[in-house]
Amino acid sequence: MNKQAQLASFGAAAYANLKGKLPNVYPRIMGPNCTKYLQEVVDSGLTSDMVTRFEAAFALAHGVRHCIATPGCTPALAVLAAAFGFQPGDEVIVSSVTDYGSIMGLLVENYIPVFADTAPGTVNISAETIERCITERTRAILVVHKTGLICDMDPILALAEKHRLIVYEDACQAVLGKYKGRLAGTLGLAAGYSFDSEKTMGSDTGGCIITNDDAVARKCRFMGHSRGATMKPGFGRMHTSRGYAYRMPQCTAAVTLGQFEIAPDVVAKRDRMARLLATLIGKIPGIIPLPIPDYVTVYSSWMFGFSIDPKAFGCDARTFAAQLAEEGIPAAGLGQYYLMPEAMVCLQEKAAKRIYPYSKPPASRDYHYGPDTCPTAHAFLEHFIRWCTFCEKYEESHCEMAAEMIRRVAERNRK
Ligand SMILES: Cc1ncc(COP(=O)(O)O)c(C=O)c1O
Repeated sequence: MNKQAQLASFGAAAYANLKGKLPNVYPRIMGPNCTKYLQEVVDSGLTSDMVTRFEAAFALAHGVRHCIATPGCTPALAVLAAAFGFQPGDEVIVSSVTDYGSIMGLLVENYIPVFADTAPGTVNISAETIERCITERTRAILVVHKTGLICDMDPILALAEKHRLIVYEDACQAVLGKYKGRLAGTLGLAAGYSFDSEKTMGSDTGGCIITNDDAVARKCRFMGHSRGATMKPGFGRMHTSRGYAYRMPQCTAAVTLGQFEIAPDVVAKRDRMARLLATLIGKIPGIIPLPIPDYVTVYSSWMFGFSIDPKAFGCDARTFAAQLAEEGIPAAGLGQYYLMPEAMVCLQEKAAKRIYPYSKPPASRDYHYGPDTCPTAHAFLEHFIRWCTFCEKYEESHCEMAAEMIRRVAERNRK
């Protein structure tokens, strides 16, 4: 790594020093019971059952049998990838527009991520874009509900059934969101969540897996929490498999449980404000809000975004976004780095040099990663402006202010 290279920042530090007239997501609004639950953990001398309580509450609310708490979604999805037990070189189709956390577990297992392109005009993949990626090595589809917009799951589930593929969800950005009245995270075999401090249900660096499948849940606890060990009488731990110690700390569980109690209100507010803001900016010629399909019955909106029609303006989206940030929308910017086939330089290199698992075997064909592999997503992200400071602190007046700022920048740059 270049010594001068700036490391990626995260959490509140990444949002510090942002200026603007609109709310910042930090400091987070905290559930009234967070302190009480934290106190309980400390008073118990770390014997509390806070993790179990959080798991039970989250599972119950989702109507599923199992919730397995983890220290984040990257670990949650890594545990699921391990639990599925595919072979190196097997392929998992995944959204091309996502976070590295969706991919990490696939790399560790030496599976091959195959990035599906987005459907035109959205940030999500669809049954159609997934179908093009299916080969005899495909084992699973990992859908990501980007920004909180849930993928059109029924056609994806039907496609998966036809090809006997597992479908699982990265529900990080869609906590308590609903698809045709069904909760995000309950639509496939299993799902991973993030409760990172910046996320909608920001706790600290937590996450979890949910599933209704007893065997998957058992495997996740075994490989994700118990380091692949079982107890041999008279001996102790026997590591019959490799495994992780990706357990959620009790203190994180305390904050997460407290945050989960306010999550329904937080999500309802985000849903209402995102829809209002989309309606307001949709009236500005050349501004195209991210479409909210009818099947998204609850939009658990983590970030807010819109596209500009390049024909309408004399500037590019980067300049437009910079002017918006100047106007007062904190952190308005582009999200081109969400394009995983472009951002995952390490994968590009491995595939180009045919380094394991891109060697044959275990791979059965050549792979290439780059923006050209997902042209629709690439083109979309060139004109897409978003801000992750959008949050439950927004009131109607903030939506009106944001729309007014966008209108001013639009008029200033209109051709
Ligand atoms: C879609 C998506 N997947 C995975 C992750 C990783 O989650 P965590 O930071 O909890 O590991 C994130 C977080 O930014 C995300 O947005």
